[in-house]
Amino acid sequence: MRIEQNVSLEKYNTFHLPVKTRWFIEYENEEDLHKILRDEYFQECLSIHIGQGSNLLFVNDYNGIVLHSLIRGIEVVAEDEHSVHLRIGAGEVWDDVVAYAVAKGWGGIENLSLIPGETGAAAVQNIGAYGREIKDVIESVEAWNQLTFEKHTFTVEECEYSYRQSRFKNPHQDPHIITYVTLKLSKTPVFHLEYGALKQRLEGKEVNLETIREAVISIRREKLPAPTVLGNAGSFFMNPVITAGQFEEIRKQYPAVPSYPEEGGKVKVPAGWLIEQCGFKGQRHGEVGCYDKQALVLVNYGNATGDEIALFAEEIRNAVRERFGIELIPEVKYIA
Ligand code: EPU
Repeated sequence: MRIEQNVSLEKYNTFHLPVKTRWFIEYENEEDLHKILRDEYFQECLSIHIGQGSNLLFVNDYNGIVLHSLIRGIEVVAEDEHSVHLRIGAGEVWDDVVAYAVAKGWGGIENLSLIPGETGAAAVQNIGAYGREIKDVIESVEAWNQLTFEKHTFTVEECEYSYRQSRFKNPHQDPHIITYVTLKLSKTPVFHLEYGALKQRLEGKEVNLETIREAVISIRREKLPAPTVLGNAGSFFMNPVITAGQFEEIRKQYPAVPSYPEEGGKVKVPAGWLIEQCGFKGQRHGEVGCYDKQALVLVNYGNATGDEIALFAEEIRNAVRERFGIELIPEVKYIA
């Protein structure tokens, strides 16, 4: 276990904000996590658990304890002729898991290639891309209750997954720390090419797990800035779901508005499109910008502060609310 005081989090958030945390604790196994949870000082302090910090916005220095899991490992725990169950440590880098599964010929997560972050955080947020979400392959999630110090293995139903949501997302309601995620992958994969750009990218090519992974990686590299080059946290907002009536109003004025049908006759509208219509795409305000290839991504040109990013995000929300009457909800989690 590593316990350090006054640690810079610059390497632990993909916006690369040079904030500090009062305490930083990294643990390698569940026994150490159990010790931390039972510690009285820990219980009194403010704390958050992070993965690679690829979905966080630190608005200030953090006056508490930042926890990070170094529980690693990918283990086959069950297998039959059709499927394989992989139990993965929460601290395992997500894209390493995808690369491993693809190399083995096990399908189910290839569309989720190159998403930054670690496996535990992926299961908290229900990461998704190109028509797939991690919930589609989750078998179970092992997590420790921060209040009772007990471990529970949650079935996928118990995780209460929906679009970028789960029971683990709001630690105030349900304070759990994920230590392992078990995925059920297929030895006879069905390919999911519903996302138009992915299908196009594969035209004339043999379709297999490797070519899908390559196509996803190339699409992501074109649209999304690499956090190693330009600080960002992927999509800053979630795509809003609106009523059919609201959608019709927008379509009258903008016949080309993109949309995806949702349950109950509702409609999901891409936030990137709404933001682009408001004129922000490619705009730079000091050290903060709205990415020129994907308006849903806010970027740090080098010396932005969390406050500046939050302020720019607020300006975007106000403009979208004023023009479309739609409330954008950040996908990124603000840490104050
Ligand atoms: N669009 C614009 N302008 C923009 C951006 C997008 O008009 O600046 C339009 C596109 O033309 C397209 C539509 O919006 O018609 C959707 O765009 P895109 O396919 O790029 O996907 P998205 O809805 O903006 C979501 C996820 C991404 C995921 C992609 C692909 C959310 C919040 N974001 O973005 O996830 O990679 O779909 O499946 O759901 C992330 O969560 O960090 C993330 C990158």
